[in-house]
Amino acid sequence: MPTTRSDALVFFGATGDLAFKKIFPALQAMMLRDGLDLPIIGVAHSGWNAEQLRQRAHDSLAEAAKGDGGSVDEAAFAQLAARLQYVDGDYNDPATFEKLKQALGPAKRPLHYLAIPPSLFGVVAKGLKQAGCADDARIVVEKPFGRDLASARQLNRTLHEVFPESAIFRIDHYLGKEPVQNLLYFRFANTVLEPVWNNRYVDSVQITMAEQFGVDGRGSFYEGVGAIRDVLQNHLLQVTSLLAMDAPIGNDPAALNAEKLRLFRAMRPLDPKEVVRGQFKGYRKVDGVASDSNVETFVALCLHIDTWRWAGVPFYIRAGKSLPLTTTEVTVDMKTPPLSVFDEIGAPQSNYFRFRLSPEVIIAEGMRVKKPGEAMNGEPVELVARHHPEPEKSPYERLLGDAIRGDNSLFTSDECVEAAWAVVDRVLTSESSVSFYEPGSWGPPEAAKVVSSAEGWHDPQAEASEPC
Ligand code: BG6
Repeated sequence: MPTTRSDALVFFGATGDLAFKKIFPALQAMMLRDGLDLPIIGVAHSGWNAEQLRQRAHDSLAEAAKGDGGSVDEAAFAQLAARLQYVDGDYNDPATFEKLKQALGPAKRPLHYLAIPPSLFGVVAKGLKQAGCADDARIVVEKPFGRDLASARQLNRTLHEVFPESAIFRIDHYLGKEPVQNLLYFRFANTVLEPVWNNRYVDSVQITMAEQFGVDGRGSFYEGVGAIRDVLQNHLLQVTSLLAMDAPIGNDPAALNAEKLRLFRAMRPLDPKEVVRGQFKGYRKVDGVASDSNVETFVALCLHIDTWRWAGVPFYIRAGKSLPLTTTEVTVDMKTPPLSVFDEIGAPQSNYFRFRLSPEVIIAEGMRVKKPGEAMNGEPVELVARHHPEPEKSPYERLLGDAIRGDNSLFTSDECVEAAWAVVDRVLTSESSVSFYEPGSWGPPEAAKVVSSAEGWHDPQAEASEPC
């Protein structure tokens, strides 16, 4: 297993969307932070040359800078551009990999990043092997890893023919997010949660990943995936695993992976009767989308985790495009006290923990406190801890840097990725029709039936921006 630093970075799909949106900005950030002293080689089949790729990289950085209200750091870009090479060619043609081998020059331990459709992973892996570019190399692959359990298994077999598991880095960029990491840290760096983090005290858990935007510009990609493959099988089940797993015996990747795997394996395969798929009105008119598409842009479901800790506690999860705001939020609702001492008939249960994972980082605890006055009547209050992190690394900067160093803590293993597919596999082939919803609403009305409590879904609210 190579444990040393990679000595070259190769990215396939260099002229594509992911490279434009995420990889060039991450490379520039790495250049600025540590000086990225590696040859960087983009590979694609677009008939381009290196100058065109450099121009594309500059356009990407200009676009990213516009979003932040800034401009491109030309000095850092000049350093990046000087390292950037381009190899053009068909991935099915051995000559492409021979050109790559030449471009790699004396590099012995390249990192190959496959920002290409999973259907091409096998072809590229074999091309790398034949050209001798796979020895002591690492490979990074994007999500979704496969389309279902069978294809994920096949993909794992194909990659394992060329690379050992320790050299395969499966990206789920949610794992590179600071607030997602904080879930794990907060749970196991404090003792306060552990005694109540189980089915004696937790009534139910809700996770909402809401996005205000639709799928413009990604219609044909989205048609091939839908919300279950796009964000549930990966991002949201990963968040669930961090919320629900037992304490790892250490902070090393193997220990974390072992507990996550146990948790994934305890997730009961989804029951189609407990899943609602929705589609926002207007989706079928998006470029690249079929006029009779049955692809879901929204999903709401109830997940069961069959462990002593979580038996009987429903995990309600939903995700959707064109919802009222963009945020990811977790609410852990606690049970009502065993005896109603204060006899407040009909008082809503308001004892919960709330974790906002984006865009802000918030940990909040909801409780009832006594209202001033003679009567022992109460009202709900929320204690809010807002965290304003220092400008941090983007998930892609962090994960690429980790992969270059060979640290796979924040990547998904073969067993975890297959276990997560096993959870959703049955509902991928569901024949059910999607239920329609208005853009800007919280999904189709049918989603309400997924939650059994009278209070229903907790719709995240826009946060007041002033610090408490
Ligand atoms: C991606 C999905 O993996 O995650 C997108 O393909 C989704 O559909 C995105 O919008 C959300 O990630 P982030 O980091 O923008 O919240």
